[in-house]
Amino acid sequence: NANQSLAGQHWVITAGPTREAIDPVRYISNHSSGKMGFSIADAAQSFGATVTLIAGPVNLATPSNCNRIDVQSAENMHEVALEQTISADVFIACAAVADYKVAKISEHKIKKTSTNDEMSIELVKNPDIVASVAALKNKPFTVGFAAETQDVEHYAKGKLARKNLDMIAANDVAKQGQGFNSDDNALKVFWHNGSIDLPLTGKRQLAEQLVVLINDRMQDD
Ligand code: C5P
Repeated sequence: NANQSLAGQHWVITAGPTREAIDPVRYISNHSSGKMGFSIADAAQSFGATVTLIAGPVNLATPSNCNRIDVQSAENMHEVALEQTISADVFIACAAVADYKVAKISEHKIKKTSTNDEMSIELVKNPDIVASVAALKNKPFTVGFAAETQDVEHYAKGKLARKNLDMIAANDVAKQGQGFNSDDNALKVFWHNGSIDLPLTGKRQLAEQLVVLINDRMQDD
């Protein structure tokens, strides 16, 4: 690609689910495929950016020219994200991070017993990765994602403000044929004094539109 408009910029992108261990053989996770984040990484590198892709466990090929760092847990992703954002111009949090982790990971496989019909696992809150990046003194242009099933605009704008983001891309996961695991998606993107609807299309095409939008907004800030 002859377009080198992002040359010299470092873009850091999180993608996929996280995996929160319960014991050596079990975990808590979610259905994120990682497709949106991988598409954004590919779009950014195609415009000449240096891309670091921090990936949870997904079944996707690494886009060309991307430095991929595989992680498992949210804590793991948090650590790597903070390391990588020191030199980042843009941070995009596309990962579906588990909100809670297991309070005490069992060293051995938890056994089922004949006496207990019920069991419970204590969970504690994970660090909010995108909020901690946005709280850095030299924060990169920080973009969050919001998967909502209702009141998309209201919740997305709330997150934009609360997490101190520069931009948030919201998808309506209740709609058929878009969002989780799908090859297509539509986004409503919000920033402090504007918004735009990016209608339903393939994730790679949508990623390119989002990358261009981020670059435009960065110039204005
Ligand atoms: O609050 P909520 O989880 O809906 O916010 C979604 C956004 O926050 C996404 O950009 C997601 O990647 C990010 N996030 C994060 N760390 C968490 C939870 C969410 O970076 N622990």
